[in-house]
This record gives sequence, C-alpha cells and structure tokens, in this order.
Amino acid sequence: MSKKLYLETYGCQMNVVDSEVVVSILNKEGIFLTDTLDNADIVLVNTCSVRENAEQRIRGRLQVFNQYKKKKKSIIIGVIGCMAERLKEKLLEEEKMVDLVVGPDSYRDLPKLIQSSETGQKQINVLLSVEETYADISPVRYDSKGVSAFVSITRGCDNMCTYCIVPFTRGRERSRNPETILKECKELSASGYKEVTLLGQNVDSYIWNENETQISFAELLEKVAISSSDLRIRFATSHPSDMSDDVLHIMAKYDNICKSIHLPGQSGSNNMLKLMKRGYTREWYMDRISAIRRILPDCTISTDIIAGFCNETEQDHLDTLSLMEWAKFDFAFMFKYSVRPNTYASKKLEDNVPEEVKSKRLTEIIELQRELSKKNKHKDIGKVFEVLVEGFSKKSDENMYGRNSQNNVVIFPAKNLEIGAKVNVKIFRCTSSTIFGEIV
Ligand code: 5AD
Ligand code: SF4
Repeated sequence: MSKKLYLETYGCQMNVVDSEVVVSILNKEGIFLTDTLDNADIVLVNTCSVRENAEQRIRGRLQVFNQYKKKKKSIIIGVIGCMAERLKEKLLEEEKMVDLVVGPDSYRDLPKLIQSSETGQKQINVLLSVEETYADISPVRYDSKGVSAFVSITRGCDNMCTYCIVPFTRGRERSRNPETILKECKELSASGYKEVTLLGQNVDSYIWNENETQISFAELLEKVAISSSDLRIRFATSHPSDMSDDVLHIMAKYDNICKSIHLPGQSGSNNMLKLMKRGYTREWYMDRISAIRRILPDCTISTDIIAGFCNETEQDHLDTLSLMEWAKFDFAFMFKYSVRPNTYASKKLEDNVPEEVKSKRLTEIIELQRELSKKNKHKDIGKVFEVLVEGFSKKSDENMYGRNSQNNVVIFPAKNLEIGAKVNVKIFRCTSSTIFGEIV
C-alpha cells in the first residue's frame, strides 16, 4: 500500500538536492509526495542550521505540525538535515511531537526508520559518513520546471571557518565519482533539461583519485562541458583560497560554461578574515577577483558578507565597504553574524558587537550593494544576451523571464515561447535586481 509524504525544504541548494535524493529513496519503497498536509502519512522537514533565525523559522513550522498531530495521531513527523544533525536527541526532547531525527548522511536508512517509527518508538540516525555521496541515486526533481537542475559533486566541508556550523552538520568533505556526475548530467539533458548547477560547499576542492590519476575541479568541469555540450553549466560555491586560474581558463574555453562566479569574501578586513580562519587575506581575495576580470571580462561576481563578527571595529567594517566598492560585486548575500553552538567562535571568541551596531553595519552593506548592483546592471543596457527562458513574469503574463549566462534575471515581452527555449534579448532598462529587454 502506498503512503503519502509531505516534504518541506529549508536552507541551501544542497538541501534541495538532498530532498530530491530522499524522494528517490522513498519512492522505491512506495512512499510518494503529496502537496497537502491533509493527505500526508509522513511529514519530513529538511532543515538548515546556518543561522539562528533559520532554525527559529523551522521551529515555527514544527509548531504548526504539532497542532496537526494532535488531530491526526497516526501521522509521522520527521526532522532531517542540518538541524537534525546539530541537535540529535535533544530535538526529540525539545520538540515532543517529532518521531524521527535523521542526519544528512543517513537518508538511505529512512525507509527502515519510518517503518520502525510506526510502532510509536522514536527513531534517530545522525551518523556522519566519510564516504556517502548518494552517487548511485537519481534525485527525483519533483519541484523543478524541467529546465535547470542541481547536481551534487561534493558533500561536507573541511574548512572549519570559525563561525560556521556546516562542518559539524554535514561532516567531512568527500567528492563524488565523476562518472556518476557525467551520467547524471547526460540523463538530465536527455530528459529535456537545459542547465545544471554543480554543487559543493567548496567546489574548488573537488578531487577524485583513481588508478593513479587525479581529477581536479577544473578537469571535472571540462569533462562535463564536453560530454554535455548541449547543457549550460553553472557551479557553486567557489572558495577564494582554492579557486585556481585553471578553473577560470576552462570557463573561458567553453561557451556553455556560464560566466558567473559566487565567491564568498565574508569580510574585507584582514583582522576579521584571520579570526574567521578563512585562509586568505584581503589582498589574496583581490588577486582572485583581478584574475576573474582578466581571464573572464564578461563574468559577474557575487559574494557573501557577514556583518558584526566578533571584535569587528568600525575600521574593519569600513574595510568591507571599501572592498565591495573595489570589487564592484554584481550581487551579494548579506548577513548579521549569528553565533552557532560548538563552533570555534562560540567557544573562544566573544559575540561582542552590539545588535544595533550589527544592524547599522548590515544596512550600510545592503545599501552599498544595491547601488553597485544597479550600476553594474546599467552597463548592460544596449547589450544583447542569450536568455534561457524559465517562465512567465510574476507581474504580467505578457512578459516572460529567464537568465543570461551571467545569472542575471532578464524580463522581456513574449507570450508563446517554450519554457527552456533560448532567445537573444537586447537590454533597454534595469533596476538593481532585474534587467528588461526585447527579443531581437
Ligand atoms: N552567521 C552569519 N552568517 C553565516 N554564514 C555562515 N555561518 C554564519 C553565521 N554563523 C553565511 C556565510 C556563508 C553563507 C552560506 O552563510 O556568509 O557564506
Ligand atoms: Fe545548507 Fe549550511 Fe543550512 Fe546545512 S546549515 S542547510 S549546509 S546552508
């Protein structure tokens, strides 16, 4: 008898793929997705721990499921992913209605754990693995429009930045067998997909050893570009310490590799970078940006920035602003520092930047980025870009939207283009987040 699964996913792109892996594993056991809670036998929440507010939001959802379980006692509620890994048994104590706690490396065990929890016994598996990459599992792209898909190439992270929970929730870094990556990309293309994004916490540290040969990220990227020449290829996330010129040259060599790089800088101050144990200096980071500009003049660059990390002075903050102005980022994800339990920073450093100062600095960072984004987009006016059509604009069904190679959202008047088509669009207007054009 088939059962129904209601699944919610929070956090990063990696969690999106993980949920697709979970659906694939459960489908084989006769458990299928439903969109509505009312039909569900099982509820799974794939969670994120990266900042306190991510966890709070998820706790809010768990309360909703708690109310629901009061009405329907037979429903099984599971927390999977990073919060499951971080909190382990504590989660069962704190959230009484949770039946199941499963960490990111234990999804193969889900069918068994679900079955066991039907007896009313709480189930938990939060073992981390040094090998698991789910390489043989074909993710079920249940929430996609059939145009663009994420493909995981590494799991975990060995960097140990002092603020970051990820090494604790996702474990040691491991790379996935390249043959399975190439195969997955080919299958995606065969089923109509037009774009893949290769995913890892730090794609540049991808390494595969076999028969005395080594495959680096640059080599993997080239293999994917050649063997799936009909796909657009993106990747995330790059790490400033490890991003080599080799990768940039491969990007330059293949038209189907998109010209956009996400290179989180976190701060422009050497004091902060050192306390964060990022493994590079401001000058090194600037050198990497210069290399991108030199080798890939059309490439957009985005970043992540943390405001108000431990001991951050006004001068450190000004250094971040000046780095942003120098780098002229196209886009940024910007956050206030949030202490994560068990990290080096939580144990050894003091979260001593007052909340109002963090807020003020974050606002200044956001405002500067808005200006930079707008200036960058302004430069696109008059240019023609190839756009991969993703759908209809939210505001009007007279307009369609898609992305260019630079990962900018482009809106243009059109009605009957196929989703997944490619069109050339000439840009005539922009805001800080979107560019507008007409098909030429
Ligand atoms: N507080 C604030 N932001 C954080 N990030 C990671 N850990 C924290 C934290 N403790 C941000 C970093 C990272 C992005 C995914 O989330 O900028 O690049
Ligand atoms: Fe992704 Fe990090 Fe959040 Fe885990 S904690 S879901 S790895 S962003």
